[in-house]
Amino acid sequence: MSVSFTWLGHSAFSLDIDGHAVLFDPFLTNNPLGAASASEVQAEIIFLSHAHGDHLGDTVDIAKRTGAKVVTGNEIAIWMGKQGVKNAHGHNTGGSYDHGFVIAKWTIAFHSSSFPDGTYGGDPNGFVLTTKQSGRKLYFAGDTALFSDMKLIGDMGLDVAFLPIGDNFTMGPEDSLHAIRLLRPRLVVPMHYKTWPLIDQDAGAWANRVSSETDSQPIVLDPGQTYRLE
Ligand code: NI
Ligand code: MN
Repeated sequence: MSVSFTWLGHSAFSLDIDGHAVLFDPFLTNNPLGAASASEVQAEIIFLSHAHGDHLGDTVDIAKRTGAKVVTGNEIAIWMGKQGVKNAHGHNTGGSYDHGFVIAKWTIAFHSSSFPDGTYGGDPNGFVLTTKQSGRKLYFAGDTALFSDMKLIGDMGLDVAFLPIGDNFTMGPEDSLHAIRLLRPRLVVPMHYKTWPLIDQDAGAWANRVSSETDSQPIVLDPGQTYRLE
């Protein structure tokens, strides 16, 4: 059993977790880097960090087509029900739950969260997934600033951290290096960059700094590219 993940552009990823299809923040339609079509991706669970349109994306359509469970913040889960999504599970910050093949722990994120129409979306979050068969720990930071409690998340022993590096709306490359030193993941994957000029970053330069200034290995993916955990 194993874990692999594919970057679909921005903060969207598709994962194979021990044979189960998972999506993170599936913003595909109108994503300039979108490497998959919302009408084709598969999912048993969609994990959604917050309500902003560049994360919420195609969640409702994909959940209705596939029957995927949407695991997200409590306010967003209630909203999903009102959109006709049959299976939505709400977490709040600090809470863990066993979703079958994966245990999710909902973590803090310093950001904001509102739906595309401006209504309240609850708190933004990140999450740590513990895969039950392969025993991996994956941290998806969502949209966030650097915060020192990342050290506590790192104490869980992370195999992979997915971190935003785009700056302006989230932490940028410089702060992400501090984050990596606090999180101490074996592998670190950049996200939330290059989508638009405002968050353009040089991922190669970032990766060189990760390699020389931290103990983590950078994994820079092209949109559509897959990495398999060994
Ligand atoms: Ni956001
Ligand atoms: Mn965002």
